[in-house]
Amino acid sequence: MLPRGRSTGTAPAERQEEVKSRPDRSGGMNWHLRALARRGRLWQPFRQEVAAFLAGWQPLTRSMILVGPSAGWCLPSAFLTRFDRVLVVDPDRWARPLFKRLHPRAGLAQWVRGDFFDVAPDLLAAEPDAAVLFCNVLGQLRFAGREADETDRLIAGIAPLLAGRPWASFHEILSGETDLTPRRLPLAGPPHHEALLKQLGLSGEWLDHAASHVLPKAVPRDIVPWRFAPGRLHLVEMGIGGVRGPVTDRPS
Ligand SMILES: C[S@@+](CC[C@H](N)C(=O)[O-])C[C@H]1O[C@@H](n2cnc3c(N)ncnc32)[C@H](O)[C@@H]1O
Repeated sequence: MLPRGRSTGTAPAERQEEVKSRPDRSGGMNWHLRALARRGRLWQPFRQEVAAFLAGWQPLTRSMILVGPSAGWCLPSAFLTRFDRVLVVDPDRWARPLFKRLHPRAGLAQWVRGDFFDVAPDLLAAEPDAAVLFCNVLGQLRFAGREADETDRLIAGIAPLLAGRPWASFHEILSGETDLTPRRLPLAGPPHHEALLKQLGLSGEWLDHAASHVLPKAVPRDIVPWRFAPGRLHLVEMGIGGVRGPVTDRPS
């Protein structure tokens, strides 16, 4: 069964499902204008890190579900074109047309305008062979009007929900004001915030994005700096959550 909602009809190979969703959250036109202005220069090193991470993830599936990619501002087209079918879940009404402009060769098969946690049971049942990539979205859950308990519950439910399926995520764990840009840091397990900041040579006040337990404990991961704005740095965790495909070595 497909996610609940109505089909608005669109290009032949593509279905669009519109489901009841909460407001646009971290997406929306302001996000797109900001991304447009920053992706070419300020975000370029981060986009390269995302590309390197995804180049090292080789799930043996023909279909890929992207969760919260927005217009794919930080995703490389070369990753998307590896899959026959790309399915997207993102409630932002502006994201789909912009995604199609940015990634015209991606095999976009379905766009669900909704909240992943609402549509996941039906979508995953309809797509048993699809891998899932969370695209810088899980570090935003806390700021979408959810209580901390609900955020923790949703995050704790991800690994069981996706058991047996290849999945990966990159998500903000901390953000703060600094002009320093540390190097990528590989970790063997979940970050301990204070130790992490010390290791990276960072100090001051940092915002906790409540997403440090997305990946199962034993999973190796990288902490990658994202120079989000002049003077503002986000620390993004990247890792493969389950059913690892062949993984190529990343440069250190
Ligand atoms: C901070 S933006 C980052 C998007 C993208 N990685 C980029 O670089 O442009 C987060 C995106 O997640 C979407 N989003 C937020 N909560 C979501 C949810 N529960 N399910 C699916 N998408 C969600 C928002 O609409 C927004 O497009």
